[in-house]
Amino acid sequence: MSAPVCAVFTIFGGTGDLARRKVLPALYALHRAGKTGEQCLVLGVARETALGDDGYRQLVTDALAKGGVPAADARAWADHYVWYQTIDDGGPEDYAAIGDKIRGIERERKLPGNRVFYLAIPPAAFASTVEGLGEAKLNTSPGWTRLVIEKPFGRDLASARELNALVHRWFQESQIYRIDHYLGKETVQNLLVFRFSNAVFESLWNRDHVDSVQITVAEDIGIGSRAGYYEQAGVVRDIIQNHATQLLALVAMEVPAAFDADAIRSEKIKALRQVGLIDTHEIVLGQYGAGMVDNAPVAGYRDEPGVARDSRTPTFAALKVEVDSWRWQGVPFYLRAGKRMARRLTEIVVHFRRAPVWLFEHSGGRDLRSNVLRLTIQPDEGFALYFNAKAPGQPMDLERLPLDFNYKEQFAELPEAYQTLLLEVLDGDQTLFVHADEVETAWALYAPVLDGRQRIIPYEAGTWGPYEANDLLQREGNHWFYH
Ligand code: BG6
Repeated sequence: MSAPVCAVFTIFGGTGDLARRKVLPALYALHRAGKTGEQCLVLGVARETALGDDGYRQLVTDALAKGGVPAADARAWADHYVWYQTIDDGGPEDYAAIGDKIRGIERERKLPGNRVFYLAIPPAAFASTVEGLGEAKLNTSPGWTRLVIEKPFGRDLASARELNALVHRWFQESQIYRIDHYLGKETVQNLLVFRFSNAVFESLWNRDHVDSVQITVAEDIGIGSRAGYYEQAGVVRDIIQNHATQLLALVAMEVPAAFDADAIRSEKIKALRQVGLIDTHEIVLGQYGAGMVDNAPVAGYRDEPGVARDSRTPTFAALKVEVDSWRWQGVPFYLRAGKRMARRLTEIVVHFRRAPVWLFEHSGGRDLRSNVLRLTIQPDEGFALYFNAKAPGQPMDLERLPLDFNYKEQFAELPEAYQTLLLEVLDGDQTLFVHADEVETAWALYAPVLDGRQRIIPYEAGTWGPYEANDLLQREGNHWFYH
């Protein structure tokens, strides 16, 4: 473990949902685990004028208590490690006041001037906040300064480029940590270990042995109270461009020259650049209607609060991409993501090539002909290699069975993604963060799907999406892995 870090961790949007549900609990958990040490201090910044240090400490206490932390422990942490600063209209005097507050805390605690600025704010406020920080010269400090930006980073290639240009005006790429919280998940990080430490799989990881790859990010939840955001985003911007594409990059990338941020990120970027233009005939977009989830009736998307009755926002997407590289030429990668699906499931399924000659024609279904590797990102984290065995008795019958590994059976607890990511920010390791080129390349891929002109097919909540998503695979002799 690296040495505990001294820093002032400033959270813009310090009273918001993300700060209360994810960022503050992660900072607290890191503190409790002794990973951040005595000198990692938190400054919440938000518009609430009446709050003050004391009011914010109570808000932090309540937020942590809601997540199960004993209130007395939460309050003791807040009293010792947490401060608050109001921001008004975001003018220069606001940023000057934030700078004064940070310098005051650094003087009081004799800190060397290391600073993190975490933008837990709506995307519309990213640019003005970065500019405010830059103009107040808060982009540099006596120690190091790092900027953490939540997704979504832009809403298409042009806006992502614009935002990158603006951020680069004030911050070096080495100071910028673009979050995709999937990269903080243990099981996602394990993809690198799985691929690059197990020679047996790496030698099979190519077009000679792999027939197709499926990546699914399915959620059973709807959009809750997030209509304001989701109506503008839709599933391609919300999940496919980032989380699903990160999984694609980790599966498709070449072996990096070293296990470090530059080498890994540059291989991911290369892999994404090799993805061919998506054919609009190979995209299925859907929107959930009413249905049953977990045996309870749920409303359709257009009946969710805040959603337009004639909304054309997709809540489901399935599409095929091809990676034009020596390794993957001709191997389809099917991506699928959706809300209100049959169940929560994120997984990567690698279908290996079928046995060239099949001797067991009358001994089981055609699925038996290929081995399958299933990497489950969540829930039931783990992996399974499906192979065939003879079922006992006569006549000869074959069954496909998993040889599996389950994380939770093996390891006590999986850390929350945000804990991992925040610790990496404090340690200055960018491996798990998205590079400027990567985010732009990912937006470029989905340009054909972002113009809002695609047909949106209704599907019933609690299912695996529109039938056309099955068709997408069936016309190539494939089908989604059976659950
Ligand atoms: C977020 C999306 O990035 O990821 C949400 O904005 C989605 O819409 C969430 O629900 C899923 O995250 P997880 O960790 O629950 O898979």
